[in-house]
Amino acid sequence: MIEYRNVRVALLGAGSVGAQVARLLLEHGDELASRAGAGLELVGIAVRDLAATRDVDLPEELLTTDAESLILSADIVVELIGGIEPARSLVLRALGSGADVVTGNKALLATHGPELFQEAEQVGAQLYYEAAVAGAIPIIRPLHDSLAGDRIERIMGIVNGTTNFILDLMDRQGATFADALATATELGYAEADPTADIEGYDAAQKAAILASLAFHTSVPLAAVHREGITGVTIDQVRAARKAGYVVKILATCERLTDEDGREGVSARVYPALVPESHPLASVHGAKNAVFVEAEAAGDLMFYGAGAGGVQTASAVLGDLVSAARRHVIGGPGIAESTQSNLPVFPIGVVTTRYQITMHVDDAPGALSAVAGVLARHGVSVETVEQTSGGTEGAAPTTATLVIGTHRAREADLAATVTALRNEPVVTAVTSVLRVEGA
Ligand code: HSE
Repeated sequence: MIEYRNVRVALLGAGSVGAQVARLLLEHGDELASRAGAGLELVGIAVRDLAATRDVDLPEELLTTDAESLILSADIVVELIGGIEPARSLVLRALGSGADVVTGNKALLATHGPELFQEAEQVGAQLYYEAAVAGAIPIIRPLHDSLAGDRIERIMGIVNGTTNFILDLMDRQGATFADALATATELGYAEADPTADIEGYDAAQKAAILASLAFHTSVPLAAVHREGITGVTIDQVRAARKAGYVVKILATCERLTDEDGREGVSARVYPALVPESHPLASVHGAKNAVFVEAEAAGDLMFYGAGAGGVQTASAVLGDLVSAARRHVIGGPGIAESTQSNLPVFPIGVVTTRYQITMHVDDAPGALSAVAGVLARHGVSVETVEQTSGGTEGAAPTTATLVIGTHRAREADLAATVTALRNEPVVTAVTSVLRVEGA
């Protein structure tokens, strides 16, 4: 039997992911050791409450409330507390002591990433964070390592399972947003306060992390444009299907060039129409998927569980094995790469396509008045569909007009919608959704 040198591992947090990491580490220790080339010795688990009920029975002698002391006895610290504090201070302390850190903390990385990476670099420690985006799905390492020789053009991610579950229920069962949210809460997908998911904050954090990594640029969370799904109606979802689309909330990270020819990047989160034929349209329930478009590799899709204790523990343990291996044989880990340092453009610079649904007076000149508004804003119409609807027998009657635009600058599209709302023949603009992936 091979005798391995032991690497000391401290676990911070024993919630749904932390408890599973501890269990798998204790149960599969030998197998993990042979993969890492080092024994992974769990030296302690820092928890807030020693007596709390947990998903897994953990050896009492490993539990402690003294996270600070535990950190100092470890080679690798696994942070699964979540949130900003005390996680930030503890991670900084761990890195400062020379320990490598494995974390699944997307909020911490999206808001304090540069500070943490700088600290790690100063002391030659490493920060691993595969579990921070899309749970079990390997996406950080593919972007950081496997695609390091390629040039990523765009990422479109379904990176929030709760909102995908809600939109999928609206689409497949005709549920209203409120009913779908209630079901998501009942099943434990949505939290008691669902704001972070349904308003897109969780997805925006993941977008900041993915865009930074993909474009070798520091993308601050504040630069991520964010719109949630609370305004998505069942009528929009039904109309989308009729037109061959599915409504999905996407985190889109894109390399683009502005009007002055400057190269930059965009990161944004909003509900969008995705063509039924696009692979992301078939991502159902609470599953996640990240669709990557790379210059040489072409299209790639990474699919799987975006949350869940044991599923996310898989990503954490993968990082842990890599970190342990590095302790034994050296070599680089997952470093921050910001050498491109591209500007992050505001949403107005992005080009996209809109689908605008409106009620108009069904009278001579209405269509031309609407077309005139688009033309004045330099927005080209791609498709027009008109159906008679509304006040029967009354004059003027109402028609429903659905206009699909060609790709245009977001600022011009937004100005077009404002002008349409003020156009006398338009009685109401009932839906505005962007089209992505077409
Ligand atoms: N609330 C998240 C989701 C879990 O619904 O996907 C992991 O970030």
